Amino acid sequence: MRDQWNSKLGFLLAAIGSAVGLGNIWRFPYVAATNGGGAFLLPYFFAIITAGIPILILEYTMGKTYRAGAPVTFARINRRFEWLGWFQVMISFVIAIYYFAIIVWCLSYIGFSFTQAWGNDPTRFFTEDFLGLTDSALNLGGINTSLLLPFLLIWAVSAFIMYKGVSKGIETVCKICLPILFLMTLILVIRGITLPGAVDGLNYLFKPDWNALKDPGVWVAAYGQIFFSLSIGFGIMLSYSSYLPKETDVVNSAFITATANHGYEIFAGIGVFSIMGYMALQQGVSVEEVAASGIGLAFMTFPTAISALPALNAIFGVCFFGALFIAGITSLVSILQTVVTGFHDKFEVSHKKAVTIVMVPSFVLSFLFITGAGMNILDIVDAFINNIGIVSAGVIELILITRFFDAEKLRREANEFSNFSIGRWWIYTLRIVTTVVLGMMIVLNTREYLANGYGGYASADINVFGWGTILFVVVFADVLTTMKGKDGYRDLDKISY
Ligand code: PHE
Ligand code: NA
Repeated sequence: MRDQWNSKLGFLLAAIGSAVGLGNIWRFPYVAATNGGGAFLLPYFFAIITAGIPILILEYTMGKTYRAGAPVTFARINRRFEWLGWFQVMISFVIAIYYFAIIVWCLSYIGFSFTQAWGNDPTRFFTEDFLGLTDSALNLGGINTSLLLPFLLIWAVSAFIMYKGVSKGIETVCKICLPILFLMTLILVIRGITLPGAVDGLNYLFKPDWNALKDPGVWVAAYGQIFFSLSIGFGIMLSYSSYLPKETDVVNSAFITATANHGYEIFAGIGVFSIMGYMALQQGVSVEEVAASGIGLAFMTFPTAISALPALNAIFGVCFFGALFIAGITSLVSILQTVVTGFHDKFEVSHKKAVTIVMVPSFVLSFLFITGAGMNILDIVDAFINNIGIVSAGVIELILITRFFDAEKLRREANEFSNFSIGRWWIYTLRIVTTVVLGMMIVLNTREYLANGYGGYASADINVFGWGTILFVVVFADVLTTMKGKDGYRDLDKISY
């Protein structure tokens, strides 16, 4: 028997748990601020309406109709589409491996918050004392023994959740974790907006630069943020919705998921940037000088800000790193589940066996990220997997479904159980607008990486961990597609629209 969510609310919480991740806290505010500020909200909402919600509806409809992970779902749609499913699964597999590492860092930093162990030079502390960062991604420099304990702990916890399964494991965890995440964020936002300097931070985030709208790069950035933030295009939402009853209203589910994710994103952005505004005021510099994103924001800039707070520093540190930690865990389980169900559905192994097949190799490979080269490898893999991998998976999905398949069938299926009927615009936006923007993104990103590499890394590093990762994903997708499955896609006849 295939697992099923206990309730629609449980499914929604899990989907929101997947969507709300590190990207909401450390990626969105920076992307918005540097791409037109308040004016960015225009392309951002445009992308939500033309790509975010339509693709969520598409993936939810496919999942609940074909009731399988990405490989078998695409195979049930058309036997020749199976490769795309494995391509998406392999992308998820890669992300899962480095997501582990970031969560490990967050857990350590929850601990450091109590004493502000980072001292007065958090950047040096993070790179040298904490990570023992080497000079190149190819110079591994040995395993970081101080990371071993949190590493094994998080590993054990995620294995436990995954073995428990979708309804008993993931659903339960999300029900407990999301309210805590919201509470921690609320504490940060209230503290943030009541600090001196908060207004400067918020101004930096929201002050509109209307000229930015003429820059195609800003529109591409908006689409990039939506894809990453909603976890769409690489099989995650499709897998989660495959545990839904067929009668579910997926149209309203898509609206709820998107509203919660983007609402949280803007909310967290207010907290993060008001605290940065305070910090800039303390240091007598402009917000622009302290603004950062990603790893830099979380582990270099924010520790400084936490130490600079007037009181209760430890509590706010725990709230910030705790929020990152929880947002990370609830996303990690969704990426892992995407891979697990890929194997479970094609090879008809038991749930436990599928979890073992996924967890053992990801455990072994994730050691790479607790070596001295971990952060550099992570940075490169993340850029290539997001900016080339996910976008390609998304555009191939749209092309296959809207041009080589009668997407009208999916529209009818979605509408049959929905109060709000989606019109034909749905197919046209996906087929034309979204496909064109994503295609443009792939061309721009690939050209940029081929011409200038990435992040100033040596070309050997880029070849091995950037292009190498893409090659790894493609080769394994080929192999897994060729392997003979047990399923035989025999449920095919039972599917109606
Ligand atoms: N959507 C998550 C975020 O915004 C990131 C994520 C990526 C989640 C991949 C699942 C899988 O941070
Ligand atoms: Na998100």
